Amino acid sequence: MARILITSALPYINGIKHLGNLVGSQLPADLHARYMRARGHEVMFLCATDEHGTPAELAAAKAGQPVADYCAEMHEVQAQLARGFRLSFDHYGRSSSPQNHWLTQHLAGRLADAGLIEEVTERQVYSIADGRFLPDRYIEGTCPNCGYERARGDQCENCTKQLDPTDLINPRSAISGSTDLEVRETKHLYLRQSAMRGKLNDWIDSKTDWPILTTSIAKKWLNDGEGLQDRGITRDLDWGIPVKKGDADWPGMEGKVFYVWFDAPIEYIACAAEWAAANGRSEADWRRWWRTDEGADDVRYVQFMGKDNVPFHTLSFPSTIMGSGEPWKLVDYIKSFNYLNYDGGQFSTSQGRGVFMDQALSILPSDYWRWWLLSHAPESGDSEFTWENFQASVNKDLADVLGNFVSRVTKFCRSKFGETVPEGGAWGDREAALVAGLSDRIAAYARQMEAIEIRKAAAELRAIWVMGNEYLQEAAPWTVVKSDPAAAAAVTRLALNLAALYAVLSEPFIPDAAETLREAFGLDRLAWPASAEAALSRLAPGQPFRVPDVLFAKISDDDRAEWQIRFAGTR
Ligand code: 2FM
Ligand code: ZN
Repeated sequence: MARILITSALPYINGIKHLGNLVGSQLPADLHARYMRARGHEVMFLCATDEHGTPAELAAAKAGQPVADYCAEMHEVQAQLARGFRLSFDHYGRSSSPQNHWLTQHLAGRLADAGLIEEVTERQVYSIADGRFLPDRYIEGTCPNCGYERARGDQCENCTKQLDPTDLINPRSAISGSTDLEVRETKHLYLRQSAMRGKLNDWIDSKTDWPILTTSIAKKWLNDGEGLQDRGITRDLDWGIPVKKGDADWPGMEGKVFYVWFDAPIEYIACAAEWAAANGRSEADWRRWWRTDEGADDVRYVQFMGKDNVPFHTLSFPSTIMGSGEPWKLVDYIKSFNYLNYDGGQFSTSQGRGVFMDQALSILPSDYWRWWLLSHAPESGDSEFTWENFQASVNKDLADVLGNFVSRVTKFCRSKFGETVPEGGAWGDREAALVAGLSDRIAAYARQMEAIEIRKAAAELRAIWVMGNEYLQEAAPWTVVKSDPAAAAAVTRLALNLAALYAVLSEPFIPDAAETLREAFGLDRLAWPASAEAALSRLAPGQPFRVPDVLFAKISDDDRAEWQIRFAGTR
């Protein structure tokens, strides 16, 4: 038994996530966590809301709420949706937690002591009326390029030109509208990532098993252009983790907070401390996952994220960890994803384009989405959600193949032998061939799941479901029963066992359906099969079962057309 630490990229607090976000981190991480638990490993699966930065402040302002209240509320909303999608986190934390405050300040202090932090003086826009420095997005004015009057300090939304706040004509504060602005000098902390270039390079080179997507992005940032840049890790914002050197004040940094991308990954660690606090566990209980001097050298740590997050996880966060000189666990494997597109365009949070987690659950249960999203995960390139494809996959894979098999065999048994597993005769050649075929397929499925090749794993699982249908079709117990009831009973017993086996194998993808099957067959738990042969004898003759409700309903053309229209515009 191994110990597996799994983290999913932390979703920003500023609103409900769309299905593209979900399939790029949290959902595949859940698949891996569930699979590893099913194989008997000890798993710690962590995620949290990413609550700092300008987007959080702006979203709260838009909602007319104090930021802290907004974050507390949105955290609950996101936690509830995570439960709705059956994301099996051991803890769903908050990057604004006291644990993360402490650890972020502690690590900044360690980096400073190691000489890896530099103080840099910058010129930045200050609003006299607001009494604060304004980040780029908080400054509005007229675009020098196209004349658009509501251009932001970082970019003009109208003509997309990248801007500097000082380029704007008639600049004003986006907070108060005040034009009483001036450029003042302000000091910021920079993390000297460039000093760690060699170490990072060696470390990334040692990860020969990483997906190409992950390594290529890491290498690009490490070597391209001017190479690894030092990075500002502080901001002039009210909301965030106050800049301190451990417990001590940091002269010159009064009123400043750490940059959101500095503290967010540290929450991966702090989240484990939150887990311990929330569950009455000791410090040692969480540290054995994270400190290599306290047991974590045995841990395999796997991260899941979209490709845009890769530089932060391969360069920035490792710089923090390595630079601290403390024995925190570094990631062992980074699974990254391309983008999921939506019906001929992109999913977009800012434009509200696509299907969002709450909307998805309002029309269909989570298993339907989980299956489609995972079996179409954007692994080797971007993939696209279309309603036609969604309808086709659900109707074929879930309803026709898996659902129909379960329904046929349980209903046939009930009508001929009652709701108990029948005794029947011995197995013949067809059954022997099925066992052999299944053994190969289960091994292939396990191989793909271990390798986190999600689409390939889904294809193997689908093939295993298909085998059941083919077997039943060929063995035709409904015909055989007329002349040889014992032989028909043997086939039925095997097919019922197959359905029970499907519950175990399918659980990481479609946990609700697995639970329905587990209950229908009265199994107390879903134990991974020792062998195909053993699995097919798990339900003993005489054991009662229930015909489960329809596992998956088909999506009608009318429903599909209606949803297509409903989700065509923007939210
Ligand atoms: O891109 C994002 O959605 C970020 N909120 C991910 C943060 S991951 C981690 F580092 F916290
Ligand atoms: Zn413009």
